[in-house]
Amino acid sequence: MKKWLKLSLIILVVLVAAAQVVRPARTNPPIDPKKHISAHMQVDPAVMATLSRACNDCHSNQTEWPWYSNVAPVSWLVAHDVNSGRKELNLSEWGTGREKEPGERLSKICKEVTDGEMPMATYTLMHPRAKLTSTEVQNVCRWTKSMASNVAETTKDKDDDD
Ligand code: HEC
Repeated sequence: MKKWLKLSLIILVVLVAAAQVVRPARTNPPIDPKKHISAHMQVDPAVMATLSRACNDCHSNQTEWPWYSNVAPVSWLVAHDVNSGRKELNLSEWGTGREKEPGERLSKICKEVTDGEMPMATYTLMHPRAKLTSTEVQNVCRWTKSMASNVAETTKDKDDDD
């Protein structure tokens, strides 16, 4: 049994060491201020501070890669979260993401923070400061709702013109 345990440990160490060879790309694509969300709409400074603090690491091109994102297999998980986070919503590239409709994108932001789905629990475990207070959640939603109605107005005006 002891021998078995020792062998398992050796195998584990070898596997973890071998895993380090597979290094995911940790990219921060270039920043173009014209593409940032704040170039597209007015973002209340307090809300911007909240989003930057709690969302930027996975939903912007300004990711601060933690030291453990160098160590496999954690590096794979972190890179996966950042890549799929950016694909869903990228504050540095506001026009992109799964929701093409700006109003939809905004209401998803409110929904995710209200439901406590975002920031992800695995993230707040390592970044407790990223947790949102209930006041912050309210402020984010007040902002998304006011912006969404602006967006709806402009779309409506356009429709009226037709
Ligand atoms: C640790 C990385 C991480 C952080 C931090 C994070 N997200 Fe996400 N987010 C993801 C990933 C990964 C997805 C895609 C998979 C999913 O929906 O769980 C996602 C999806 C989303 C979506 C799309 C959900 C949908 O179903 O359409 C929204 C909106 C969102 N996040 C908003 C936020 C906001 C707002 C914050 C900050 C308060 C935030 N996220 C913080 C990783 C993150």
